[in-house]
Amino acid sequence: MSTSFSEDLLRWYDKNAAARALPWRGERDPYRIWLSEIMLQQTQAQTVKGYYARFLSAFPTVFALAEADEQAVLKLWEGLGYYSRARNLHAAARRVAGDMGGAFPGDAAGLRRLPGVGPYAASAIASIAFGEPAPALDGNQARVLGRVLAWEDVLKTPFDLLAPALERIDRERPGDYNQALMDLGASICTPKSPRCGDCPVAEHCRAREEDAVLEYPKKSPPAPKKEQDLTILLLYQNGRLLVRRRPKGLLGGLYEFVCVEGHPDEPALADALTAMGFTGVQIERPLPDAKHVFTHRVWHMQGRLGSCATSPEGYSAVDQDQLQALPFPSALRVYREIALSEKQ
Ligand code: ADE
Repeated sequence: MSTSFSEDLLRWYDKNAAARALPWRGERDPYRIWLSEIMLQQTQAQTVKGYYARFLSAFPTVFALAEADEQAVLKLWEGLGYYSRARNLHAAARRVAGDMGGAFPGDAAGLRRLPGVGPYAASAIASIAFGEPAPALDGNQARVLGRVLAWEDVLKTPFDLLAPALERIDRERPGDYNQALMDLGASICTPKSPRCGDCPVAEHCRAREEDAVLEYPKKSPPAPKKEQDLTILLLYQNGRLLVRRRPKGLLGGLYEFVCVEGHPDEPALADALTAMGFTGVQIERPLPDAKHVFTHRVWHMQGRLGSCATSPEGYSAVDQDQLQALPFPSALRVYREIALSEKQ
């Protein structure tokens, strides 16, 4: 391999950046760079273009912005969303124009102390305006680097990649390097359908070498499923089966049988049912166990068949035809089949 990652990236950027023709590209004024980066934080470049131009014609300098009325600033922000950005922008302009005599802090650490400037924006501004080799690590840059490095660890934050990002950033042109990675992440190294055939750094990409680009960056494994033990009762009152409509939430609106949390033994089960408001409870026989796996939980069900004298509010006693007609979750299908096969 004759050329480095950053050389290949910057050569591509030099050829393609003109095509994007973004008005803040090539800008040297920290005020304008800061403004563009704040606008770009949660908004796409194409949308930002118009706002950026209107904003600068209303407030061409940090002093003009500092002196502006907050309402006027918010008005020009209208439609961009995340209005705290505009309020912070105004507050930061007042600080720069007042305490700092109009000069923006000259490095990422100083910029970070301005209202509304997070670590990503601070690095982006410092690299573009002052040539500081600070990687602008966000989800985009982390995705590109995670793939190039075939990074095996799950990223808790993009800053987990700070060390390798610092190793790679171009020391001569850090601002262009950061913006090249932003462009690459937005146009080629996209989350779901990366165009590796057009990628200027494909030769440097370990994920590509492994033919596993979509496996990076690694995602956290799904949260473990919640395991729940339940006892499902086919409980009869005057020969009819007790059912209830489930309240809102999991399987809300579907019907269920009498159900008790856990796998209590027979006396404890009778006690639990009495506490729920059933009277004259008799457990007659066990039914088969069943298991149902949902997306986020697993039910381990034990079945019991019994009877009671009266039931609390909310339950209805149904015959076979009604049971057949009511909607039940498939988790309970086994017990419904058993109930339908019982003689009445
Ligand atoms: N997103 C955030 N900053 C950007 C920039 N300078 N160019 C393109 N996209 C960006």
